[in-house]
Amino acid sequence: MDQITARCDADVWEDEWAMPRGELLRRIAGKHGAITLLTEKVDDEFLDAAGPDLAIVANYAVGFDNIDVDACTRHGVMASNTPEVLTDTTADLAFSLLLAAARRIPEGDRFLRSRTPWIWGPEMMLGQDVHGKVLGIVGFGRIGQAVAGRGSGFGMRVIYHDVYRPPEEIERELGAEYRELDELLAEADFISIHVALTPETRHLFGAEQFRAMKPTAVLVNTSRGPVIDEAALAGALRVREIFAAGLDVFEKEPEVNQDLLELENAIVIPHLGSATVETRDAMGLLAAENLFAALEGQRPPTLLNPEAWEARRGSSSQAGPDP
Ligand code: DGY
Repeated sequence: MDQITARCDADVWEDEWAMPRGELLRRIAGKHGAITLLTEKVDDEFLDAAGPDLAIVANYAVGFDNIDVDACTRHGVMASNTPEVLTDTTADLAFSLLLAAARRIPEGDRFLRSRTPWIWGPEMMLGQDVHGKVLGIVGFGRIGQAVAGRGSGFGMRVIYHDVYRPPEEIERELGAEYRELDELLAEADFISIHVALTPETRHLFGAEQFRAMKPTAVLVNTSRGPVIDEAALAGALRVREIFAAGLDVFEKEPEVNQDLLELENAIVIPHLGSATVETRDAMGLLAAENLFAALEGQRPPTLLNPEAWEARRGSSSQAGPDP
């Protein structure tokens, strides 16, 4: 923010709650650049409201399902996100959820705070071992691969599913084996989801997938909520079709499914994947870097739609040296 306010005439929304849509559409009019959060929907309506001066929408997130990138391209607006700077931080959180769900840590914490009398017992709050188990990663991009590395460090065997297969050396380096999704569901003891939200991945996990998983399985989601059918997940957790789930993201965020809130074997946290001081700083700096590049007629470093950059470059070189 210091860099942005020093270099730009910035209109900053200071409130913690997202800007109401009407206000956003009013305030975006005539702007040259926008830094958006995942709570801001960038679509034709937004781009029309912005008008022809808008050069870039720099999303402060790696996920960009809030942005209609094709609409940006049609409007000649560049769009960017914040990849890489949050990979390890998000992988750390996914692994924390995995461990916490396997070893019932929040449940134990809640139990002690309830001040229920207790004494050590051989069968008290038994969880699942993590070491020696099979970790299934669904979505084997940067974050999925970083979670795979953590799994190997914990002595797990790693399998993965993705519609894009990485080069063989990545599989070799991470000791990860490819599986079809149904094979992975049946074989994995722990499943961590790292797919982008697209029409194809919406409700990728529903009743059928939970039935296919082991009754001892733990499911972790740090990607986007709508990848899971939450009502089906709550049902599966309630009847112990699977052992536990660790969720950082929700289908109707910020709403959290009431049934999940009542289940001891569901861990729910408020979208904290990238929430560390260092990583949020790095995301901010990268978003600002993208913004400044676009405003100065340069190619933003983590551009999502190179076509928009090419189109702008073409039209600015036709317009002469002083765009
Ligand atoms: C992202 O970057 O997509 C996260 O969900 C928020 O950091």
